[in-house]
Formats: sequence, structure tokens, C-alpha cells
Amino acid sequence: MNAFAKFILMTTLPLTSMWATSITICKGCHGQAWEKSAMGKSKKLKDMSKEEILNALQSYKEGTYGGVMKGLMVEQVKDLSMEDMEALAIEIKK
Ligand code: HEC
Repeated sequence: MNAFAKFILMTTLPLTSMWATSITICKGCHGQAWEKSAMGKSKKLKDMSKEEILNALQSYKEGTYGGVMKGLMVEQVKDLSMEDMEALAIEIKK
């Protein structure tokens, strides 16, 4: 399966994959409508673009992004694949 077909599959799958389970957890800190500053530290995700969110998630995983609470976000993304993170970013900006 090429990357594009995989990407389409990921984004059209019903809420069964791993990122879909974790999005509920994300909302616990970032707000139901992504309107909260998580723990008073993060940007409001609703004010970020899809590209900014995706870049932040990937960079947390690589350990090259974040502020005082980045360790917490590294925990959230360490088991996610690139496809998971893309699907999350798309879902957040829906
Ligand atoms: C336990 C609370 C918590 C959970 C759960 C959580 N986050 Fe976060 N998130 C934070 C905090 C706190 C920050 C700021 C971290 C820092 O200092 O860099 C943050 C930062 C971010 C940022 C970057 C925002 C910025 O300020 O640049 C993104 C994007 C993000 N989170 C997405 C997610 C996603 C997607 C999930 C679910 C997979 C998630 N978060 C789960 C608390 C949480």
C-alpha cells in the first residue's frame, strides 16, 4: 500500500484506531473544543494551524520542541506513528 492510500485509509477509518482513543485523553487537558491552555502552559490548539500542531507533535516525539511541561507531551506522543499524528492534527482542525 502506498503512503497516500494509507493516509486516506487512516483518515476515513471509524474511531477504532489508537489515535482515536487518545483524542479523548487530549481533550481532557486541551478542552473539548481545543479552547483551553493545557495546564495554563500550552497554546490553545484552536489558535494553531494543522501544520503547527503536526510539527509540534512530531517535534515532541523527536525531543526538539516544547516548554517547561514538554515531558508530559512526550509521554502522549511517544507511541504514535507519523500517520497517527497526521490523523490527530486533521481531527483537531475539523
Ligand atoms: C495531561 C495533560 C495533557 C494531555 C493528556 C495532552 N496534552 Fe498536549 N499539552 C499539554 C501541556 C501542559 C502542553 C505544553 C507543554 C510544553 O511545555 O511544551 C501541551 C502541548 C501540546 C501541543 C503544543 C502546543 C504549544 O503550546 O505549542 C500540542 C499540539 C498538543 N499538546 C497536542 C496534544 C494531543 C494531540 C494530545 C493527545 C494525543 C495531547 N496534547 C494530550 C497537556 C496535555
